[in-house]
Parts: sequence; structure tokens; C-alpha cells
Amino acid sequence: MTSQTIPVEPFDLVVFGATGDLAERKLLPALYQRQRAGQFSESTRIIGSSRSELSDEQYRAFVNEAIETHVAASEIDAGELKRFLQRLFYVSADATSGRGFEDLKAVIGDSPNVRAFYLAVAPSLFGEIVNRIDNHGLAAPTSRVIVEKPIGRSLETAHEVNAVIGRVFDEARIFRIDHYLGKETVQNLMALRFANALYEPLWNSAHVDHVQITVAESMGVEGRADYYDKAGALRDMVQNHMLQLLCLVAMEAPSSLDADTVRDEKLKVLRALKPIDSSNADRMTVRGQYRAGASNGGAVKGYLDELPSGVSNTETFVAIKAEIANWRWAGVPFYLRTGKRLASRVSEIVIEFKPIPHSIFGEQAGHVYANQLVIRLQPDEGVKQWLMIKDPGPGGMRLRHVPLDMSFAESFNVRNPDAYERLIMDVIRGNQTLFMRRDEVEAAWRWIDPILAAWEERGLAPQGYTAGTWGPSASIALIERDGRTWHESV
Ligand code: BG6
Repeated sequence: MTSQTIPVEPFDLVVFGATGDLAERKLLPALYQRQRAGQFSESTRIIGSSRSELSDEQYRAFVNEAIETHVAASEIDAGELKRFLQRLFYVSADATSGRGFEDLKAVIGDSPNVRAFYLAVAPSLFGEIVNRIDNHGLAAPTSRVIVEKPIGRSLETAHEVNAVIGRVFDEARIFRIDHYLGKETVQNLMALRFANALYEPLWNSAHVDHVQITVAESMGVEGRADYYDKAGALRDMVQNHMLQLLCLVAMEAPSSLDADTVRDEKLKVLRALKPIDSSNADRMTVRGQYRAGASNGGAVKGYLDELPSGVSNTETFVAIKAEIANWRWAGVPFYLRTGKRLASRVSEIVIEFKPIPHSIFGEQAGHVYANQLVIRLQPDEGVKQWLMIKDPGPGGMRLRHVPLDMSFAESFNVRNPDAYERLIMDVIRGNQTLFMRRDEVEAAWRWIDPILAAWEERGLAPQGYTAGTWGPSASIALIERDGRTWHESV
């Protein structure tokens, strides 16, 4: 089975931070893949910009190396790569002094292409860059701007970031990336819920016992300690990715896939989250920080050993029992957990249905497990519906818990595109469905801020966990107190 590629309109994508980590590891490889898929029209250009002084040729050499490093050798086609490199241009510019912005204007010229500006830079530069774009007349009425998280580090600072960008670009032209929304399986969650009649009648507190959302990473902070230590797992993963996943699981059926219709439904979920503050934070949340241990088959340092100062109160793990106060979900806990240096890299959503009300099978039939729907986001993307069946054979009625297993790799045999491939093309198409609206980001912070304040107020320090395990024992206690267990994510 092959997927269909619909070419997008010709575009000029200006990437600020063109020699940075995000551009090198994610954006340029994603753009190359779209070139290879035949999605670009002839006059499409990618204009890199950063402070370094580089010629077009030097930038092309940088990109060539980025592609060779970050794209599988089997996916590098010399002809396509050459054509891709020819689309690249480079302008050295400095937003603080304004140097280079007139050069950028000259390169953009009066091209009728769709224009988009990707701010792949530190958020502290967003304001200066959008003001320069405005002052130098670089933005056409339909130009778009793309920004990455973190959008602030609290409600107040998110508001400031949004206001700065909003002074130059209308909301309909601001594309706030949460790359989780570009993941194939995350979009599949919508297909599963709304393209099948089977689940929706059961998707509520009458039939669902609880939901678990796990985003576990086996890596540590990998040279990002400077950013990470100021953020921590709650800001880095929960405020954005985890809450977006929770919204897609919990939202009402939108009446269409239209961007605002979907985002209106997600916003209602965020607003219905029950507050966690100093009155309940010690019961509803767990913070952890990894200590030395073993990961990916080798000994690894503890978090503190990765910091120059050797001291920190930042959490590298968080588990939360979230509750949604509405008719559909009242009484159904959503257990969230995410962390670095956990036992394996796995992201999944588990919908656990209620147990059967009465068993007709005797004890010898074995335990009757509750049905679970497990949506595996990564790795080994797929969906498993766990059911009880009779053990095959003539030996009496014994029950077995087995999955109806759909692995996407096995079923479709296609390359799983990176989230950025989908998202950047959606910007060019002007489709905001998979991007976060300003009020969503702010509503998420409105729920997160009191948790951060409660940790501070109550002095809730992170508890140590050994690298390569599933986090602090308090995380196990958080769910076991309710008579439930974390799904074994292996
Ligand atoms: C980023 C976080 O947003 O997501 C990182 O800042 C994290 O800390 C990453 O590692 C995880 O993304 P993925 O796609 O590898 O699951």
C-alpha cells in the first residue's frame, strides 16, 4: 500500500536558527523527505538564516552533511538531494542589531510564493525577530510564522510571548508546533475514535475504568541540561505533549476536522481539568529525579552529575493523577507519567474498560482481565485491543488474555514519516488543525501553574530513582492506592 502525495503550492520558507540543532536534526531532514516524496513545486525555496557568516554554497555543504547524518542511507537519493540543495539559500542576519534583514528582503524579493518564517531559535529572540520582519516589510498579508515550545514557562510568560508575536501576526497565521500532534499514531487516535462506530458508545465513565498515558524515554538530558534544568518534566512534557494527548482522548467529537472546531473541543477539556494545588498536590503528583544506573546496556550518570553545579531540584520524572470534571469523564482518572532515563523508550495510551459485572466461569478458568485498548505511539506504532478468549484445545474452559494486534509497520510496510514532515506541509497548506491555538496553550498553563506553585509551597522535592527503572516507587503507589497498576509497557 502506498500513500498519496499531493504537491503543495510553491513556498519560500525562511528558517531562523538555520544552523541550530532543531534545523539540523529535524527540519532539514524533514524537508528533504518531502522533496524526495515529490511534494515541492518548482520555485519552492528554503532560505536559511542565522548569525554565522556563510555563503549559499557553505550552507548547502552544512545541509548536505545534516542529511547524510540524520537520514537513513537507504533513503538518500543523490539526484533528489542535489535538487533539494539547489533550493537552499542563506542570509546571515542578526535580529538584535538588525544586520542582514535588508539582505533577507532582497533575497525574498517580490516572490508570489507562500511565505513562512520558522523561528527555530530561543524564545527570547521571538520578539526581536518578528519586529524585524515587520519593520523591514518582510511579511506579506498571508505570511505565516512557526514557533516551537517552550511558549513561556508560566501563564504570565506565555501570555507575553503570545502577545509579542500577536502584534505582528494574526492568530490565523501563527503556527505553534507541538510535534506530538504530527505523529502518525496521534492522528490515528482521531481516526480510531471518529471513523469507527465501535468505540464511541463505550468512551465514557459508564464503561471506561481509567486511562493511562505514558511517555517514557530511556535517554537522559543529552547536553540540554542548561534548558532542561530550568524547565523540568512538567513544563517540558506535560504542559504540551501529554496534555495534548489527554485532550485527543477526552474531547467530545468535533463536528468536523476544521481547525477551530477541533481546537474548541480540546480547549473545553483543558478547562474542565480539576485543579491540583497545595491542597492535593502530594496525593495527585509525584516528582522524581534519576540517579546513576544502567540504561541502553551501559552504566549512566545520575542527573546531578550531568549538571555543572551538581545541585538541582528539577524533576526528570513526573506522574499525575488528573481528573476531568464533566459528564463524560467524572470519576475516571487519567494517570499520566513521563520521565527521562526510564526502563525503555515507549509512549502509549491505555484505555482500560470496566471489568465484567459477573463471571460465569469458575476459578479454574483463570482471572478474567478487563479489556484494554492500547495505542502505541512509539516505537512499534500500532493498536492492540486486549480481549479474553478461550484457551484453544479440548481441556475444559480456560481463559486467556490476548491482543488483537495491529502493528502499522507490518500492516502497511511504509516508512513512518517524521512529525515535522506533516506539520511543515500543513503550514504551507494553511491548515492549523494540528497546531496549538493561543487559548489552548494558555489554558494548559492555567492548570500547570498551581502544580508548580504547590510543589514550591509544600517543598515537594523530587524523589530519587535509579536510571533504567520505571521511576520512583511513589509513582507505583500513586496508581496502586486506587487498586490499579501501570500497564507493563514492554
Ligand atoms: C521534546 C522535549 O519536546 O520532546 C524533549 O523537549 C523530549 O525533552 C522530546 O525528549 C521527546 O520527543 P520524541 O518525539 O522523541 O518522543
